[in-house]
Amino acid sequence: MSKLFKYQTLSSTNDLMREQITNFSHADIVWAEQQTKGRGMGGNSWHSCPSQNLTFSVFLCPKNIEAKEQFWVLQFVSVSILQVLKRYDIDAKIKWPNDIYVENKKLCGILMENAVVGDFLENSIVGIGLNVNETEFPSFLPNPTSLKLLLGKSINRETLILELQNEFSTMEFVSKKDVCQQYLSMLYQKDEFRHYSCVLTKDVFEAKIVGVSLFGELILEKKDGQQCLFSFKEIEYL
Ligand code: BTN
Repeated sequence: MSKLFKYQTLSSTNDLMREQITNFSHADIVWAEQQTKGRGMGGNSWHSCPSQNLTFSVFLCPKNIEAKEQFWVLQFVSVSILQVLKRYDIDAKIKWPNDIYVENKKLCGILMENAVVGDFLENSIVGIGLNVNETEFPSFLPNPTSLKLLLGKSINRETLILELQNEFSTMEFVSKKDVCQQYLSMLYQKDEFRHYSCVLTKDVFEAKIVGVSLFGELILEKKDGQQCLFSFKEIEYL
């Protein structure tokens, strides 16, 4: 039975979990009402109004996941979140690699920190920031949204986090292939020709997302059929 540890204030739920890692088992959650040093991807900080949203980390112990295929865990987590959101009538998409979007607005971010031993993934600390009942965001955030803004009513956060935990706890029973297929079908802008910019060359081009490699690279296809692979931070959505 997985456990839920709730705190009033922490620096970061990911950091607490890492510091006390031996205390946790598969699908245990650390939830903080407020984080003083909440972290996002790429060294960014994570904003969340205290006691309005969900800011938590879940501890996952994947079985037989090779280090090279660790992106699969992020796929599983993203798909699980979308499945729970669907029960709230939220039709969200996964903006590769780690954001959950509804139309053009960010509802949720994921920060995954993996420990690898030898050729295998030992465990993952998956930090999740999900905007639930916040309705006014600071202007420096480009395009945030929340469940309350989308649904026009407040959502019970305790119920929601338990539903998410329940979904995460099924990890060892799901088919790897099914998760990959679901992830692809839930990708933001999949099969739509859009403009992207290559961070290295500054080249702007039109392409469609056609897939994701085993290693988690985004596969874009240009109009002439040429396919290119991009790692995180190598490509920008325009
Ligand atoms: C992102 O979109 O950049 C990822 C954001 C992840 C934020 C969550 S909030 C809970 C957990 N603890 C942290 O310090 N960060 C993650």
